[in-house]
Amino acid sequence: MNAQAMPSTPPAPQAIVRPAFGSVLAGSMAVAAWRDGRWSAHELRRTGPIELSPAAHVLHYASSCFEGFKAYRWADGSINIFRMERHIARLCQSARALALAEPDPVQLAAMITAVIERVRSEVPESPGALYLRPVLFGTTANIGAASVPPSEVMLIVLASPVWDYFTAGPKPLRIYVEEHAARCAPHLGVVKTGGNYAAAMGPTLAARQKYGVDQVLFCPGGEVQETGAANFLLIRDGRILTRSLDSTFLHGVTRESLLAIAPQLGFRVEERVFSVAEMLDWIRDGEAALSGTAAVLAGVGTLVRDGQEQRVGNGEVGPHTRRLRGALVAMQQGEVPTPPGWITRV
Ligand SMILES: Cc1ncc(COP(=O)(O)O)c(C=O)c1O
Repeated sequence: MNAQAMPSTPPAPQAIVRPAFGSVLAGSMAVAAWRDGRWSAHELRRTGPIELSPAAHVLHYASSCFEGFKAYRWADGSINIFRMERHIARLCQSARALALAEPDPVQLAAMITAVIERVRSEVPESPGALYLRPVLFGTTANIGAASVPPSEVMLIVLASPVWDYFTAGPKPLRIYVEEHAARCAPHLGVVKTGGNYAAAMGPTLAARQKYGVDQVLFCPGGEVQETGAANFLLIRDGRILTRSLDSTFLHGVTRESLLAIAPQLGFRVEERVFSVAEMLDWIRDGEAALSGTAAVLAGVGTLVRDGQEQRVGNGEVGPHTRRLRGALVAMQQGEVPTPPGWITRV
């Protein structure tokens, strides 16, 4: 190297700037369209704007649903999707609930794997992942079709390299207990549709502004349900308590996976309706956590209820939460075997 090319001092190490969850899209997406009663062949495109009529059904009548799950780069370099089939099944269930054309599960799986193949180099190393976001929406151009399902529908699979969802990282979360407003209509909680997130926005922004919380735990009528983007679990030595499945909340795949592995880790799982009063009793010496694809299992440190702060245990992420999270992450990263069908290698 000649003297001119050699820097006189070594460059300062660059701070790693990680984009906020979901704010950056991978370079390719897969697109298919439903028209004349059938799905077109899908195509891979550069990720970019799509053409949509301003009269598109989705823009007026919110005919849309989506999914969110992750593919992980394992230590051997392979890319592996966690519980893809379960997420495809949930998208189909959401589509049925909204009278939208159901995706063909085989075609959707092919679209997902094709996108991953194409953007393989963009899949981050652990603890990052490639977040996958299939979205299905009505494109029929008709502003008089409020009670008519769209005859034209689009299915797009987006991908996004992600790191931490909660910008605060693994810090214990601060959660507002909302006992009046519901997150969404009670029959739609089980459906992963954009309107539910729009409906939760008002109470969430209000609680953030007033109490500086990370999330809102919806407990309409005093019964604990879920937060705006994750399920809610109470955890303590040998026990997990979470709401039993009904139509009022989203049946999280992370929740299901944690409950499936919990007995091997020595936890007895209780799924039932429980009240805010029981939760407050539990957290005096127990743990609370949010589960979801984005959050994995994030410990709650403080609940804010009626303007009063209630500390969860000692206010830190508890040991049982960390152990459960570690067990799930080990499966997602391919460090330990998983039940059959949980991993799809691309
Ligand atoms: C409202 C809501 N509840 C729960 C979850 C957790 O679901 P999953 O574990 O399938 O990601 C999510 C995440 O997508 C969500 O948006």
